[in-house]
Amino acid sequence: KKVVLAYSGGLDTSIILKWLQTEYGCEVVTFTADLGQGEELEPARRKAIDMGIPEKNIYIEDVREEFVRDFVFPMFRANAVYEGLYLLGTSIARPLISKRLVEIAEEVGADAVAHGATGKGNDQVRFELAAYALNPDIKVIAPWREWDLSSRTKLLEFAEAHQIQVAKDKRGEAPFSVDANLLHTSSEGKVLEDPAEMAPDYVYQRTVAPEDAPNEAQYVDIGFERGDAVSIDGVAMSPAEILTKLNELGGMHGCGRLDLVEGRFVGMKSRGIYETPGGTLLLEAHRGIESITLDRGAAHLKDELMPRYAELIYNGFWYSPEREMLQAAIDKSQEHVTGTVKLKLYKGSARTVGRWSDHSLYSEAHVTFEDDAGAYDQKDAAGFIQLNALRLKLLAARDKRLK
Ligand code: ARG
Ligand code: SIN
Repeated sequence: KKVVLAYSGGLDTSIILKWLQTEYGCEVVTFTADLGQGEELEPARRKAIDMGIPEKNIYIEDVREEFVRDFVFPMFRANAVYEGLYLLGTSIARPLISKRLVEIAEEVGADAVAHGATGKGNDQVRFELAAYALNPDIKVIAPWREWDLSSRTKLLEFAEAHQIQVAKDKRGEAPFSVDANLLHTSSEGKVLEDPAEMAPDYVYQRTVAPEDAPNEAQYVDIGFERGDAVSIDGVAMSPAEILTKLNELGGMHGCGRLDLVEGRFVGMKSRGIYETPGGTLLLEAHRGIESITLDRGAAHLKDELMPRYAELIYNGFWYSPEREMLQAAIDKSQEHVTGTVKLKLYKGSARTVGRWSDHSLYSEAHVTFEDDAGAYDQKDAAGFIQLNALRLKLLAARDKRLK
């Protein structure tokens, strides 16, 4: 039996790797993706080798450009946020990991893939729905649902027994459950499990506290073409380069911190701390450029579809006909979403302060409070209001009659 494991090199997946070998008796192939989590990947290779994985069974790939170009950017065209606040940083990375797992399984002749998500969360659903959507015959091994290492404490004991190194955080403790990529870092578990308790400062990994951000505001121009960011301050960059640069700017100014209790797909609520510095700038700027380039009807329909689209991504239905249908509509809406937005970054906030485009629908001639030289006849508004008021008047007249 051969299995391809999504291997981060961290504690949980190292234990899983050992467990698959010892309890399952599988030949393990590891896949480690550079999604921009900001960790070196060579240690993951070393650890895999130390656990007896031959070099040919170790896959380490930089997928940052693909991640941003084919997953993050399409999602940002929709301005997707889950439950009003969550920018879906973990949710959007899972389908890409599964896609590569399934592809590698085909390459190496494995019949199964494995992941390190627990049986309580969203990630198991996302990994597996994506895998089954791409290969209906694939088998999935989810050790967390099978083994008797039912708590972090037991897990640490298993690690100890098998000489698996437990990385400690800055304070010498076992770390939170963290997931990171170019779009965000999420932390869950431990002290965060009490939603009444304020998150300690040491949870935050890639943003400064707004209080500690520079006292001087900084301005940044983000250029868009057909809904995707293509430049920063006039310099053209690749998708991953743009997000990297926006992360740097947003992180420095304390932008994109979120403390959220959310409804997991499996039914329970969970509390997480999210840091999405670059994504927060990107969302604000994208809304800024849409504000002048999107027609109102298109914009409002898009906003109605958005929660549905966001929920599909959160729940793991990236590879589904309904997500693709919505994507087609969203992509169509972006044809003229081209232009530039100026953001002001200041102590945790990122606000649009200017926007301009050759594709703009904004007409100063029409909207001006000054003399509009006949662009718009204010008398037209009287009939417009009378017809819109007709129903309201009939309703009010009935109320008056029956009183
Ligand atoms: N709650 C977030 C989500 O469902 C983040 C999950 C983070 N995963 C993790 N292994 N800590 O998208
Ligand atoms: C996990 O359960 O592995 C992390 C949290 C989640 O998937 O929602």
